[in-house]
Amino acid sequence: MDTSQKTQSGINKDTKQEQLNLFRMNHDMESLSTNQGLRINDTDDSLKAGSRGPTLMEDFHFREKLTHFDHERIPERVVHARGFGAHGYFQVYESLADLSKAKFLQDPSVKTPVFVRFSTVVGSRGSADTVRDVRGFASKFYTEEGNYDLVANNIPVFFIQDGIKFPDIVHSIKPEPHNEIPQASSAHDTFWDFVVSTPELAHMIMWLMSDRAIPRSFRMMEGFGVNTFRMVNEQGQAHFVKFHWKPLLGVHSLVWDEAQKISGKDPDFHRGDLWNAIEDGEYPEYELGIQVLPEDQEFAFEFDILDATKFWPEELIPVRRVGKMTLNRNVDNFFAETEQVAFHPGNVVPGIDFTNDPLLQGRLFSYIDTQLIRLGGPNFHEIPVNRPVAQVHNNQRDGYHRMTIDQV
Ligand code: HEM
Repeated sequence: MDTSQKTQSGINKDTKQEQLNLFRMNHDMESLSTNQGLRINDTDDSLKAGSRGPTLMEDFHFREKLTHFDHERIPERVVHARGFGAHGYFQVYESLADLSKAKFLQDPSVKTPVFVRFSTVVGSRGSADTVRDVRGFASKFYTEEGNYDLVANNIPVFFIQDGIKFPDIVHSIKPEPHNEIPQASSAHDTFWDFVVSTPELAHMIMWLMSDRAIPRSFRMMEGFGVNTFRMVNEQGQAHFVKFHWKPLLGVHSLVWDEAQKISGKDPDFHRGDLWNAIEDGEYPEYELGIQVLPEDQEFAFEFDILDATKFWPEELIPVRRVGKMTLNRNVDNFFAETEQVAFHPGNVVPGIDFTNDPLLQGRLFSYIDTQLIRLGGPNFHEIPVNRPVAQVHNNQRDGYHRMTIDQV
């Protein structure tokens, strides 16, 4: 069979929206029904045996309504539980064929659909936006060759060098185990005990205690891939790369006193700011930047270029701005989209590859593993926001909540 017939072409910024349209449901002015589609005229009274009850077990509508309610919660993310997402698109400025064969990086006229989720790391899902913390900046590119996820933070370095310490740093910065205090804060003993016993963390702690950790807006934050990746071109030549997002509005922060007051007065400050900007047509824009090193320069510097506790100095290895992302559409439903989206640094496309960075290798294990429990089984790639626009054909079937009806 000619495999080119099976490849989707012509993917543009609307393709993902058209796919999502298949799942969107407008309930406005429709009559109420059960989940089995049975119309009902009353959702306020259960069926009683006599005028004073008790409620009858046979009232299937009562049972269904309560059962669904009882099961409405899924586990929040272990880290980055509080977040806010939006749709948009990405365009490369000029072909990057010299560096990468990734199709979405070749043609400046192609608008690749994206979904971005910004987050804090430590706080639970209901915590405040303006706490002192690292911010997540995760982007999913729905490319014609499959989903590519750039799972970034707003700080260019990381706490640790080896993924095996990730549970330890996270346990230390989460609330103390005996009383679950403090919420979304690094100002407590278990964290500082970890800091003093972990010398590689010194660089990151400077960033965490700086105004980078209290951004003014998601629209005014940089993003950094942190780990070193590789780009590979059609000839098989590889370059090491660091990824950057540069906000066109510039980088701006709050001051600590403002951040604390806003936490009390408007805990949704950042999500409100992003939502309103998009509703008002003030679409946030970020340029994609790359720092590039030929493979033979792996050992040319005094620092290890695969060490996530160091950045590559921009005066030595300048950032080249290669494209722009625009966020232009709010979600229709927070749970369906922002809560259920699943990013994974291992979602790459041909032309983008990994390195030996041990922190990155830890990440490559952890994301899918946690999503299997958070999203309840192995079919979460079929959830509308996670579905690639590229076609999926394989023999991985069955499992909880399978949506596709495989015919052969
Ligand atoms: C070994 C180190 C790391 C491990 C084991 C790890 C693990 C995790 C896990 C388990 C999640 C929750 C995922 C989910 O429930 O969907 C997560 C989320 C996230 N991580 Fe990491 N992480 C690590 C390092 C990093 C680094 C270095 C960055 C930044 C470059 C980063 C950025 C993010 C972001 C942005 C999210 C939130 C994604 C979203 O919005 O859903 N992580 N991480």
